[in-house]
Amino acid sequence: MSSPGPAKIPQHVAIIMDGNGRWAKARGLPRLEGHRRGVETVRTVVDAAREIGIRYITLYAFSVENWKRPTDEVSGLMGLLDYFLKRELNNLIKEKVRLHTIGRTDALPANVQRELDRVKDATKHFTDWNLVLALNYGSRNEVADAARAYAEAVQAGREKATDASWERFSRYLYTGGLPDPDLLIRTSGEQRVSNFLLLQCAYAEMVFTPVLWPDFGQADLQAAVDEYGRRERRYGLTTEQIKTGAK
Ligand code: FPP
Repeated sequence: MSSPGPAKIPQHVAIIMDGNGRWAKARGLPRLEGHRRGVETVRTVVDAAREIGIRYITLYAFSVENWKRPTDEVSGLMGLLDYFLKRELNNLIKEKVRLHTIGRTDALPANVQRELDRVKDATKHFTDWNLVLALNYGSRNEVADAARAYAEAVQAGREKATDASWERFSRYLYTGGLPDPDLLIRTSGEQRVSNFLLLQCAYAEMVFTPVLWPDFGQADLQAAVDEYGRRERRYGLTTEQIKTGAK
């Protein structure tokens, strides 16, 4: 009997955390209570990712479109972010997790920016485990910002327009220096990517689960990783080429 071989663990998992509002509504609670429970899930998932061996976990915490939500929900989310950063700093240091952010974070409230800088600075020397928070993030804005930065680099003579390639351009994305996600998970049964890491997920496997984010736990993350392990990533090659390693 052949052995199953070592489990395939994705290096980078990106998650669209969805369903906080529905979780709260089903219990007759205010939406913010769903977000509050969602923050607890963030802690659970960051710990579970490390236990599984996932080195990078990126969470879509606040999109550019989320500013359009009712003002009390937006300020509630900012308050939760501030609370999370204050509460998690010691834990992240203890577990040697580096915090990164992607998105236009300069538009976040000043107190949140201060906490983000503090936590990023205190964890910047860690390399093994990485938590990436997408905040005021939108993939199309990211491309526009990168194009502007790239054009400025061309004008300043640091890049040549004729040398443009994905390898060179992608360094100007917010994710420059981070590996592409191998697996994208969306909770709550929705099957959309909602302007999240559109270019970086070009080859990502996608897993959609009906579980609402506040109910998502270690077993659900493990199930998504198991599903990823069963998929064959071909990058345009044939199954035969993958098996034989032929070019
Ligand atoms: C989607 O649920 C969730 C969000 C827009 C926010 C996600 C934020 C958190 C989990 C808390 C803050 C995060 C951190 C990292 C501290 P929804 O409100 O769209 O749910 P619904 O579709 O059921 O209404």
